[in-house]
Amino acid sequence: MQNYNWRSAFFASLLGTDLEQHIGYFSHIISQWESNQNNKESTKWQKQLQQLPKVENVSLTIDSHIRLNTKQPLASAELQKTRAVLKNFMPWRKGPFEFFSIDIDTEWRSDWKWDRVLPHINDLSNKKVLDVGCGSGYHLFRMHGCGAKQVIGIDPTTLFFHQFHCFKQYMCDLNIHFLPVGIEHLPNTHYFDTVFSMGVFYHRADPIKFLKELKQQMAPNAQLVLETLVIDGDENTVLMPKDRYAQMRNVWYIPSVEALVIWMQRAGFSDIQCVDIDVTSIDEQRATQWMQNHSLVDFLDPNNSSLTIEGYPAPKRAVLIAS
Ligand SMILES: C[S@@+](CC[C@H](N)C(=O)[O-])C[C@H]1O[C@@H](n2cnc3c(N)ncnc32)[C@H](O)[C@@H]1O
Repeated sequence: MQNYNWRSAFFASLLGTDLEQHIGYFSHIISQWESNQNNKESTKWQKQLQQLPKVENVSLTIDSHIRLNTKQPLASAELQKTRAVLKNFMPWRKGPFEFFSIDIDTEWRSDWKWDRVLPHINDLSNKKVLDVGCGSGYHLFRMHGCGAKQVIGIDPTTLFFHQFHCFKQYMCDLNIHFLPVGIEHLPNTHYFDTVFSMGVFYHRADPIKFLKELKQQMAPNAQLVLETLVIDGDENTVLMPKDRYAQMRNVWYIPSVEALVIWMQRAGFSDIQCVDIDVTSIDEQRATQWMQNHSLVDFLDPNNSSLTIEGYPAPKRAVLIAS
């Protein structure tokens, strides 16, 4: 990355906070991540990051898009080269982003999810926030835009870590950091005022363990924001797909809201409320120039869009808040 050491920036951001005591541990898990990396893969991304333009006086605008701006527009040859470099980071799934006037139209309109979540959650001003399974980090920027004083995202997918750094490397001073690890690798911090986990729960084979891991990151009186797939039904209704669900391989449990509430209670949460339910539309998740693989429309039964192609109920998502 261009003259930017994300590890040092992350450690510096922990100084003087209650996370400072964990710096040694974080350093250890980052070194482990580095040594587990396929070196060729990582070097490839590093080189691509360095191909992005060297630009001074960059500013950030946060609205539906996360936009990097420069005073001096890039010349058209440079824009063309930059677009080609960014395309090497495909598939771009979570966004949308704008990179010096290049519109990265991602597979997901993640801004729609944020619009569904934001009206129901505690004010993020001056808060310490964790986003578990942050993808490209799109929502990390939105959390920062809501005034959070410290934002940390974790996600073990190396591509998403590097997509995040396409943007973050220009905004070194922002107190937004991305750790490329799964939640199971975090120490119990009991530190964050709001812990988000959106779109991850159904990927976990042990959902109760996962809920407890989320709880272990929450300060007393903190808020959990959990967004996940649900199905219709009573407190005894849970879908475990035989194999794929909407073509996704690693989907384990899709409970009804009522069943999920019981699981959350058993994992130690209280004040649980379901604040939004939404059937995912083919306008929210679709193939674009920046994600050219199959998308939701291909994963639904062509004769009945209320079913997946495997015959399960089509994706429906709920947002639950709890303390
Ligand atoms: C469907 S994406 C959700 C991205 C984003 N939160 C959103 O709602 O748009 C699920 C993400 O969870 C991440 N993930 C998978 N296992 C995880 C784990 N053990 N800890 C944290 N994140 C994980 C994946 O890498 C993936 O980026």
